[in-house]
Amino acid sequence: MSALISCHGIVRTFGGRRRRVEALRGVSLEITTGESVAVVGRSGSGKSTLLGVLGALDRPQSGELRIGGVNVWSAAERERRAVRRRFGWVPQDALSSFDPRYSAGDVVAEALTPAAAKDSKAVAELFGRVGLTGGFAARRPATLSGGERQRVAIARALAVAPDVLLADEPTTGLDVLAQERVLDVLAAERRDRTLVMVTHDLRVARRMADRIIVMDGGRVVADVPADMPGSGGRELMRLLEATPGL
Ligand SMILES: Nc1ncnc2c1ncn2[C@@H]1O[C@H](COP(=O)(O)OP(=O)(O)OP(=O)(O)O)[C@@H](O)[C@H]1O
Ligand SMILES: [Mg+2]
Repeated sequence: MSALISCHGIVRTFGGRRRRVEALRGVSLEITTGESVAVVGRSGSGKSTLLGVLGALDRPQSGELRIGGVNVWSAAERERRAVRRRFGWVPQDALSSFDPRYSAGDVVAEALTPAAAKDSKAVAELFGRVGLTGGFAARRPATLSGGERQRVAIARALAVAPDVLLADEPTTGLDVLAQERVLDVLAAERRDRTLVMVTHDLRVARRMADRIIVMDGGRVVADVPADMPGSGGRELMRLLEATPGL
């Protein structure tokens, strides 16, 4: 199958001449429709930056990004907006991405596609999909537990009916039970769409992904199948454990 997302030679640097950070130093990769990909690596290795670039939100200084055949940064703004609508985002810090004046239901309703917004049950349906039934929609996100908030963030991402779900550390900081609930939701959703997920947890990566990309210092240092053949995944674990900071 042809690539849904393909990037080549991506360089993304931050800061000026004095304090320059090379967050991505020449990243090339392809993601096929329907694939689930986990991105792992130590803190500061460029994972969130990569997600922003792949989702066509953040413009790299050089390199090429193609999504569904569209050369994103040389296309017209209108085309780029259409490309961005194909992505659902679960940001690294969900709470700070919610408007504090909004209820959880408002947060999700605001993201609905125009077609879905006509359906009065659309928000309830999305809350059901992430396992938040009952009065959750009326609550303010700040009053929810971390896991509940994360599921509101996933419901908001699904509200755009995305082809691709981009999730940045969706289980970090949650207790085991809350993690399980979030992973169950993502496992159900990955059946119908492409998933790119950043995680620090190798077990989560192996369970959720077909493929694992390891970043270090702004580079992809490994790109391997999650069920890497040989010794029941032990080889993969050895490779990943050899990655500094993981
Ligand atoms: N907007 C920004 N301005 C300046 N530097 C930035 C910016 N965004 C990222 N960086 C720097 O780029 C590097 C990569 O950051 P990034 O957030 O992609 O790392 P990460 O792998 O997601 O880390 P973490 O696991 O801590 O979330 C870091 O050194 C970071 O400080
Ligand atoms: Mg990050």
